[in-house]
Amino acid sequence: MTMALLSPESLKRIEREAAKYPPEQRQSAVMSALGIAQDQNGWLSNELMEEVATVLGMPPVWVYEVATFYNMYNLKPTGKYKVVICTNLPCALSGSVDAAHHLQHKLGLTGFNQTSADGRVTLKEGECFGACGDAPVMIVNNKRMCGRMTPEKLDRFLEEDLK
Ligand code: FES
Repeated sequence: MTMALLSPESLKRIEREAAKYPPEQRQSAVMSALGIAQDQNGWLSNELMEEVATVLGMPPVWVYEVATFYNMYNLKPTGKYKVVICTNLPCALSGSVDAAHHLQHKLGLTGFNQTSADGRVTLKEGECFGACGDAPVMIVNNKRMCGRMTPEKLDRFLEEDLK
């Protein structure tokens, strides 16, 4: 099978994930496979998702459904850093709304799902990360969790970490 978009390395990683399931349940690896495709490309185009569907032997529409349901998948190109801030109630009551406004103001954005003009940061809102005790909480590029983000800490974070 020749894949135009998924690299041999990504295909190998997806096969490794699919091998964790019985052959008739390869599709169970869809979330990991989408994560691998996104790691490679930065975002998931329709064509890339179709390749994931082919590799896992499942209808493309199922892959789109998963990709659109979870907000860790980028369906459009994002900035260099994707910052997702939790706006669920416990975080909202502990400053996440202010933190989001602060970030938007600093980045020149008018809301969520926007990217700063310099292409550096895309800001999104997300659901509880299970770290409510550290509210307000945000995740950078789906991997790095940052807690207790006061306006002062956010300023430092923008200057030092999101260069
Ligand atoms: S409500 Fe924000 S991490 Fe749980």
